[in-house]
Amino acid sequence: MEPKKDREAPSPQSLIAASALLATVGHRLPAGLDPEEVATSEFAFYSAQTFLFERAGEALLDAMSAQTHDRTLLDAFHIQKVEESTHVRAYESALSILGTDEAMAFVRRIGGHEATLIRGSLVEQMVIAFVVLESIAMGIFDARRRVYAGSALARLDARVLVEEAGHQRVGAGLLAVMVSEGGTPVRDVLAIAAEGTNTVQGLLAPRHLFAHLGIETTVAERNAIESAGFLGVQRDVTRRAMSNALRTVHRASKEGTGHDRHRVAS
Ligand SMILES: [Fe+2]
Ligand SMILES: [Fe+2]
Repeated sequence: MEPKKDREAPSPQSLIAASALLATVGHRLPAGLDPEEVATSEFAFYSAQTFLFERAGEALLDAMSAQTHDRTLLDAFHIQKVEESTHVRAYESALSILGTDEAMAFVRRIGGHEATLIRGSLVEQMVIAFVVLESIAMGIFDARRRVYAGSALARLDARVLVEEAGHQRVGAGLLAVMVSEGGTPVRDVLAIAAEGTNTVQGLLAPRHLFAHLGIETTVAERNAIESAGFLGVQRDVTRRAMSNALRTVHRASKEGTGHDRHRVAS
């Protein structure tokens, strides 16, 4: 069957220009592998990851709801759950933008992230959801909307980015209230965020992409890839978002319990 080509798919030029792999190991590709193939597979890999993280984020909201009877939290989780469900569906259809089944093949090979991400207390899950995952999501969407400007995916990313920023703002506010009222030390929140970031980076690491392309990499190259091409833009945005969310929690812990929970969740 003729592959379906979306005229709004990112151009080969933009895929090549934004590729973290090509920027790092492009000079020593295995024989027979051309730059466009590498950049297209890389794009398919992160498109698959976007869908998988959206799906895990949606499941995490269900898991958090099961851990509380607090109406303010339940209402906020419900609103976000509805939006995450639309993200899951939107990115599932976006996987076909490539016109091949490569992204779906990555989805099957990577499997789900739920088992790794959904564990721990409500505070731990809220840190993972609102501080770590939303920051990663914002980084990926902001990076892609900029580097693939004009493509259908960039438009979807720009729209979803606004919603993820709202999720983080509301979630960090709720977490701040819980931390200041519940007596969780801020250093525990920082430790959960640091460990969660390592876990998520491990899940995002492009092992399956390297295996698929037959590219062997050194530790130094894998580290370099994280700050190259579109991944470099993503990392900077993610760091900024994460430190903003942590600052909100830190500020609340200093101010005590004077927050209005209902105002924070609205
Ligand atoms: Fe989302
Ligand atoms: Fe979100």
